[in-house]
Amino acid sequence: MAQKIKNNVYWMGKVDWQLRRFHGDEYSTNHGSTYNSYLIKEEKSVLIDTVWAPYSQEFMRELPKEIDLRKIDAVIANHAEVDHSGAMEDLMRSIPDVPVYCTPNGVKSLKGHYHKDWNFKPVRTGDTLDIGHGKKLVFIEAAMLHWPDTMFTYLTGDNILFSNDAFGQHLATDKIFADLADQATLREEDIKYYANIIAPWSKMVDAKLKEIAAMRLPIEMICTSHGACWRKDIGKVFAKYDAWANAYQENRICIIYDSMWGGTRAMAEAIARGIRMADGEVEIIVHSLSKSDKNDVMTDIFRSKAVLVGSPSHNKCMLSSVAAALEEMRGLAFKGKKAAAFGCYGWSGEAQVRMSAILKEIGYDVVDDGIKNVWEPDGPALDACVEYGKAFAGKV
Ligand code: FEO
Repeated sequence: MAQKIKNNVYWMGKVDWQLRRFHGDEYSTNHGSTYNSYLIKEEKSVLIDTVWAPYSQEFMRELPKEIDLRKIDAVIANHAEVDHSGAMEDLMRSIPDVPVYCTPNGVKSLKGHYHKDWNFKPVRTGDTLDIGHGKKLVFIEAAMLHWPDTMFTYLTGDNILFSNDAFGQHLATDKIFADLADQATLREEDIKYYANIIAPWSKMVDAKLKEIAAMRLPIEMICTSHGACWRKDIGKVFAKYDAWANAYQENRICIIYDSMWGGTRAMAEAIARGIRMADGEVEIIVHSLSKSDKNDVMTDIFRSKAVLVGSPSHNKCMLSSVAAALEEMRGLAFKGKKAAAFGCYGWSGEAQVRMSAILKEIGYDVVDDGIKNVWEPDGPALDACVEYGKAFAGKV
């Protein structure tokens, strides 16, 4: 169902209240999501993005209630990923000759997904499309925010930046605007989305923010492709992304571990006690990797200044949950984090050495050799962990 968002601009998307996993099973969407499509009805009518394929039929039922499909003059595909292009096959079957504006990489991606030769009009940054009534669309390539094909589209006159995935959140809300959403949930999903989806491309985010600032576009609204749109404190929205894109950290230490019989868990908790003794202010977060939500873990690492990674040695390796977390950390490529490794072992103790090596390899500043304990930690061993925690707090 369409909702007017400003003058002749309408939200045409789908609120997915039931979504609990995204990107296959990679991303937990505890608060659902939305797929935001926008319809602009000026002298020319333009559709920006569509919805995910499971909702294509619904989209194609609703869209003709708002506009005779034959009156759509252009389709803008800001991003080819299927959550935004999924309804394009059905749409383009109805309007096969309508031009599809996207980046050159967008042409490749859309062809790669749908194997159709639609009426593509590749655009570059600064290209424009006149839509009448004195308004035009300005295209801004945004490669790697978060795919090579991604672009933003700016609507003059109404001063709206259609930013696609950037600035979005996986949050089901039918209120459209961020200022109307539950603020605690919005904040939680906002930073989780950056940490788990946008963070690997922070260098490009930083450059794009500078580029957009230099364009001096008056931006009154940021219309995302997921979750809520921003219409208040736009400067703060950009400032937030600027902070997140530049080695973001809070006064937090995150301890992540997995444990077979509780020894490494006891070490984690003793280290946490030591950190607390040394620093009454720092926020300490402890995650069991086999129990906590992976995306919550990554968000907490993103927010932290340091991370301690723990695993017992098992078959000469670390536990698979810990290996998976380190691989995820490699991909997310957070910057400016300090780290160390710890864990129990019985007879050889390779895990902690391997964890330290991987942490260094993926760009973490490993501050010391960590701590390991042979067999089950007893009182003196746990005291040593407390002392280690105190020392670690002093190094980060
Ligand atoms: Fe929301 Fe990159 O798709």
